[in-house]
Amino acid sequence: MQDILEQLEQHRAAARLGGGQRRIDAQHAKGKLTARERLDVLLDEGSFEEYDTYKTHRCTDFGMAEQKISGDGVVTGWGTINGRPCYVFSQDFTVFGGSLSETHAEKICKVMDLAIQNGVPIIGLNDSGGARIQEGVASLGGYAEVFWRNAQASGVIPQISVIMGPCAGGAVYSPAMTDFIFMVKDTSYMFVTGPDVVKTVTNEIVTAEELGGASTHSRKSSVADGAYENDVEALLEVRRMFDFLPSSNRETPPLIPTADPGDRIETALDTLVPDNANKPYDMHEVVTRVADEGSFFEIQKDHAGNILCGFIRLNGSTVGVVANQPMVLAGCLDIDASKKAGRFVRFCDAFNIPILTFVDVPGFLPGVAQEYGGIIKHGAKLLFAYAQATVPKVTVITRKAYGGAYDVMASKHIRADVNYAWPTAQIAVMGAKGATEILYRSELGDPDKIAARTKEYEDRFANPFVAAERGFIDEVIMPHSTRRRVAKAFEMLKGKQVTAPVKKHDNIPL
Ligand code: HXC
Repeated sequence: MQDILEQLEQHRAAARLGGGQRRIDAQHAKGKLTARERLDVLLDEGSFEEYDTYKTHRCTDFGMAEQKISGDGVVTGWGTINGRPCYVFSQDFTVFGGSLSETHAEKICKVMDLAIQNGVPIIGLNDSGGARIQEGVASLGGYAEVFWRNAQASGVIPQISVIMGPCAGGAVYSPAMTDFIFMVKDTSYMFVTGPDVVKTVTNEIVTAEELGGASTHSRKSSVADGAYENDVEALLEVRRMFDFLPSSNRETPPLIPTADPGDRIETALDTLVPDNANKPYDMHEVVTRVADEGSFFEIQKDHAGNILCGFIRLNGSTVGVVANQPMVLAGCLDIDASKKAGRFVRFCDAFNIPILTFVDVPGFLPGVAQEYGGIIKHGAKLLFAYAQATVPKVTVITRKAYGGAYDVMASKHIRADVNYAWPTAQIAVMGAKGATEILYRSELGDPDKIAARTKEYEDRFANPFVAAERGFIDEVIMPHSTRRRVAKAFEMLKGKQVTAPVKKHDNIPL
């Protein structure tokens, strides 16, 4: 019996060594952790339960029958993060470059199936040379099996991808179908075709980092939701975000008790909005002063800075925040902002996360580039997402809410539940200057007359009361009481139920 136990230990030790010490050292030399070291950082200590440790590939071509390594390049199983379970897979670059074989895919599919069935999130740590070249189409089939499950799992369980090495070719499409992608700076990249192919086809010369590194995807393409300095930072941030999320669409997010009083007064908010309506202020101030303990987990913070998206807690409950940021492009909605916020609203709605919207928006960004780029369709994504969302929605207009952007930003008309405005709010078709220049075009030559007309328009419309008179605004609130008012509103909305019309699915303007 003792012999058998020792044999098992030896078998386990061999599996844990993956592709061997030389390749582990090479991994470390690149500043990367191994697949198992990453799981040690991601999961609670001692919580990991591994599956399929001894699974190997079935390939016999290219001498592969003699090259079998237990686990076949991916470590799979489940563990806990701050006590809550999640399924995981972690690709092992030391084994055939983490490449995906048929059996490697089977291992990933097994944990995905269990995650969907058991209503538990799945986190994938990606570090792979792509399709296992020796296996050909069997590997492609394996990828497609994973893709299919990504689509099935979408909206059922949170899916999180961390890119910690190469991720190229069709392999990018599994992370792309998950809810969030985190990348590690300098050691990870994602692209459909690499620099060599790009050079051959388009003559463009570009490095892998420039083409698909963490900075590129977190700033320009918005493929990534966050870029982090190293493996440890990325994994710790996944743990932090995980605490905001429910385990599945059948649950609400966990309640994290807070010592921060729900009725905390923030007098600094009373003077935050400048007297001059053209001067910016930092919307982060509003978000962090309203949140429990000032904590805001921002999504895509390096992309489309004109809109802020992320998670806060209010009285311990997760709330998704969308907020125009007057510091960037005056808070205008453009293509990037609409796509960023639209996707975030959809995530929140799918996973029972109430949405808090702070509005200071002068309108949609004008310009040829915006129109050619399809701002109509992209802006409609955000409008559609808000209109369709049935989770509790509370809106606070801090300053400008002009034109179509007023309607889009969780207005009463598209079924926000509670709409508040600060006394500094201006809810109108457009700003006073623009309105006057259209209404009184014949008087444009007379600056005094125009100034008087502008003042008249401001006095009439640059306030929240015209909208409040119609019930479009439920109450004009003191800025300092925003946290209390909003927290109470969400408390009251906890029992919200909405019956949507019967349909197969909607047709969001993709
Ligand atoms: C089998 C692979 C492999 C692969 C790497 N290896 N990629 N084995 N299939 N796809 C092996 C190498 O042979 C090597 O084995 C080890 O992994 C490490 O690779 P290196 O090249 O030494 O590492 P590095 O210099 O860091 O370069 C990493 C790399 C490079 C950039 C990923 O290996 C590479 O370009 N690989 C091929 C990428 C590729 O073309 N993949 C197919 C893409 S098509 P040893 O034994 O020496 O340690 C695709 C389609 C998916 O993925 C479609 C889905 C629908």
